[in-house]
Amino acid sequence: MDTTATFWLPVPASTVAQDIDALWSFVFWISTFFFLLILGMMIVFAIRYRRRAGDVERLDKGPSHNNPLEAAWIIIPTLIVLVIFVWGFRGYMKMTVVPANSMEVKVTGQKWFWSFAYPEGASSVNDLVVPVDTPVKLLMSSQDVIHSFYVPAFRVKRDVLPNRYQVAWFEANQVGEFDLFCTEYCGTSHSDMIGKVRVLSKADYASWLEESTIGAEGMDPVELGRKLYTAKACMTCHSVDGNPGNGPTFKGVFGHQVEFADGSSLMADENYIRESILSPRAKIVAGFQPIMPTYQGLLKDAEIDALVAYIKSLGAESE
Ligand code: CUA
Repeated sequence: MDTTATFWLPVPASTVAQDIDALWSFVFWISTFFFLLILGMMIVFAIRYRRRAGDVERLDKGPSHNNPLEAAWIIIPTLIVLVIFVWGFRGYMKMTVVPANSMEVKVTGQKWFWSFAYPEGASSVNDLVVPVDTPVKLLMSSQDVIHSFYVPAFRVKRDVLPNRYQVAWFEANQVGEFDLFCTEYCGTSHSDMIGKVRVLSKADYASWLEESTIGAEGMDPVELGRKLYTAKACMTCHSVDGNPGNGPTFKGVFGHQVEFADGSSLMADENYIRESILSPRAKIVAGFQPIMPTYQGLLKDAEIDALVAYIKSLGAESE
């Protein structure tokens, strides 16, 4: 089995990739063949049958039609498109019908990150972690606008819609890291809505699950907060170096006066930060748009505590 990238296509890292690539190559080379044939004949005919002196008298002498030629250009293309249809339809069915023994991952798209919930209770943001050689069913929905889940190496792409579930599945056939894109324009930070699919060996996956399900306990809250800042995609919009992004920076906010869009202000304390994580639109900081999604249900209480502790520590550093 060929598992390397080609000039045209990325690494075929799922069980359906080879089939799709074979059909793609077939269509590509058939198209190339006819493109060159037709273009070549146009050039040859344009030169060979160009108008010459004395042609006007011969105008009515050409053949009116040619039965074998016409039959050929009907029958040959019909056979070719039938082959493409049957081949494509079989591939489509294979990609659509989810194997019964699949492991199910809940995928949520929102502005502007992906979150994943695993059957054993673990969760992750932006990085989808799966075991190799295991069919994975993705049950996908969106919190807001249309996103699109795209993993080129798996040849899997499916729109993710609000108010309904979309289903896709894949079985990764090699260990590695593969790009995950949002491929539907979904607003300001669409281009940041990227992640990785990390395909682990079955043993590594089991220990990853264990690690991320127990996780938090016994870790220093500031350290955990720092980890969550990356893992839960806070970093997409909030810097820790004082520069504003799509949202205000975390640096120096704690214990300082914050001005809001409605003209009011308050001293940022633990409750303000907690509220901003769970109900981000309750208070909008002056100069920013109300674009942050709620993290209700995405963070455990201990994790919110840890983020508060982390933001607190950034306040202290700035003094
Ligand atoms: Cu989500 Cu583009």
